[in-house]
Amino acid sequence: MSTSAATDASTQKNILAVNNIEVIYDHVILVLKGVSLVVPEGGIVALLGANGAGKSTTLKAISNLLRSERGEVTKGSIEFEGARIEAQTANELVRRGCIQVMEGRHCFGHLTVEENLLTGAFTRRDGNAAIKRDIEMVYDYFPRLRERRSSLAGYTSGGEQQMTAIGRALMSRPKMILLDEPSMGLAPQLQEEIFEIIKKLNDQEGVSFLLAEQNTNIALRYATYGYIMESGRIVMDGVAKDLRENEDVKEFYLGVGGEGRRSFKNVKHYKRRKRWLA
Ligand SMILES: Nc1ncnc2c1ncn2[C@@H]1O[C@H](COP(=O)(O)OP(=O)(O)OP(=O)(O)O)[C@@H](O)[C@H]1O
Ligand SMILES: [Mg+2]
Repeated sequence: MSTSAATDASTQKNILAVNNIEVIYDHVILVLKGVSLVVPEGGIVALLGANGAGKSTTLKAISNLLRSERGEVTKGSIEFEGARIEAQTANELVRRGCIQVMEGRHCFGHLTVEENLLTGAFTRRDGNAAIKRDIEMVYDYFPRLRERRSSLAGYTSGGEQQMTAIGRALMSRPKMILLDEPSMGLAPQLQEEIFEIIKKLNDQEGVSFLLAEQNTNIALRYATYGYIMESGRIVMDGVAKDLRENEDVKEFYLGVGGEGRRSFKNVKHYKRRKRWLA
């Protein structure tokens, strides 16, 4: 497997570089087995793979959220804007401009949408006026949230909660967002709406994204580059357009044939067809 094309382009600066990391849970369960990836500055990169492949673990390793789950990065290094970040706390990392939106769109259900957004500004020290301005910016990106600003988040729809979770992350003024399964549990039209906003934030605010997604189809339409994970390893990576046209990706992840995504393990000729494994 080649290393990422993005690393080879010498003019390209990477905002994030993950170098050969290993993650172990509970001191014994080896989950990531040498994962490397890069996100170029201003890029949208997709991290794809089925259930349990290790996508969320990779994101949590980057944003330093593993400790609370008894997980640990035991090998490798992680760099954000050229500086090593493994020893930083999640909050320090947020201050530096890298924030994660967790899987399952965690909102505070008993707070209003607007109060949820305000909790995202906790690392800032630039005063209320700036925070108010950014709340308006979030509402400009997510007009639905403006309408629902006084509703308790717990009573809003799944799509609105996902928007609230992304909006809250925006309130920290991030350079990069690690977004875990933004499409999960949403109707196709809402998925599209969320990805359109991701693209707009990328274009207009310059936010870089690393997106973990099971939904290969939508992720590869919006991302510029993709990595495919399986059992804790990156098994393939490439420019999004090439991955979309790759026969194996089509067969195993894009569900061409109408059955939806199939598991490699359930496909008989898996070993013969899967050209990217030695
Ligand atoms: N706290 C934990 N302790 C032990 N094992 C864990 C823990 N969290 C995850 N795992 C295991 O690590 C592996 C990778 O899980 P992870 O959640 O990273 O996968 P994923 O690609 O995000 O899957 P999904 O698409 O279902 O969210 C799985 O085998 C999972 O059972
Ligand atoms: Mg996950």
